[in-house]
Amino acid sequence: MLQRALPLLLSFFLLLALLPSPTPALSILNNSTLYTYAGCYNETTELPGTSQLRALSGGIQETLPDAMTVPLCLDFCAHNTSRRYAYAGLEYARECWCADALSSLSVRLDDADCGYPCDGDNETACGGALRLSVYNLTEEARSSGVAVMRRGGGGIVWGVGLWGVSVGIGAVVGLVLRGF
Ligand SMILES: *[C@@H]1O[C@H](CO)[C@@H](O)[C@H](O)[C@H]1NC(C)=O
Ligand SMILES: *[C@@H]1O[C@H](CO)[C@@H](O)[C@H](O)[C@H]1NC(C)=O
Ligand SMILES: *[C@@H]1O[C@H](CO)[C@@H](O)[C@H](O)[C@H]1NC(C)=O
Ligand SMILES: *[C@@H]1O[C@H](CO)[C@@H](O)[C@H](O)[C@H]1NC(C)=O
Ligand SMILES: *[C@@H]1O[C@H](CO)[C@@H](O)[C@H](O)[C@H]1NC(C)=O
Ligand SMILES: *[C@@H]1O[C@H](CO)[C@@H](O)[C@H](O)[C@H]1NC(C)=O
Repeated sequence: MLQRALPLLLSFFLLLALLPSPTPALSILNNSTLYTYAGCYNETTELPGTSQLRALSGGIQETLPDAMTVPLCLDFCAHNTSRRYAYAGLEYARECWCADALSSLSVRLDDADCGYPCDGDNETACGGALRLSVYNLTEEARSSGVAVMRRGGGGIVWGVGLWGVSVGIGAVVGLVLRGF
């Protein structure tokens, strides 16, 4: 009985070994301090009567074949211009869309529908064909706006300038005090 089953069993294990190992599921990035993951949404360009308007329109866009990652896109939407966009969306593995509103015609789908790995990170989801992995600006990032950061950056320049001026004044005062 066992003798007859053995070849069968062996071929079964051989088959198992030959089968391609299952590809691990894509992970969804949701640990950014700027944006939280809002879900997988469908693109609206194919909807009749929308003049091909995008789900995330009116903002800026960037395509990085071979390089796009979720952090790159979030950084682009938050820092490329002097304003932070309310939404960031990754589509088709390499596209990044930034906008202040998500079209009300865009429907939320299963996370699994955004099944394209990012061009620059094959383990993380970057939307799909006409599917967007949508990210939503956090309250904190909304209120601590770019203006603050810009002022901070300018502050460094100001600080260095003031430091230079005080060193100069200090030198002159020092010379005067020494009775130059
Ligand atoms: C977010 O998670 C990814 C993958 O788990 C990790 O590589 C990355 O360092 C994390 N980022 C932050 C800001 O914690
Ligand atoms: C992403 O993480 C935030 C918490 O940081 C959570 O509120 C939100 O539900 C998560 N998004 C999804 C779609 O699971
Ligand atoms: C994004 O977050 C805002 C609150 O900050 C919320 O009103 C809005 O519904 C969110 N959008 C999505 C698509 O989840
Ligand atoms: C978006 O998804 C909804 C629900 O699956 C579907 O009815 C609609 O046709 C989709 N739109 C596009 C443009 O794929
Ligand atoms: C903004 O994006 C453009 C196009 O990708 C890029 O050339 C430029 O360096 C970016 N600027 C900043 C400040 O991120
Ligand atoms: C993902 O990329 C890494 C590094 O390039 C590679 O070692 C790995 O085999 C890739 N995984 C998949 C599922 O393509």
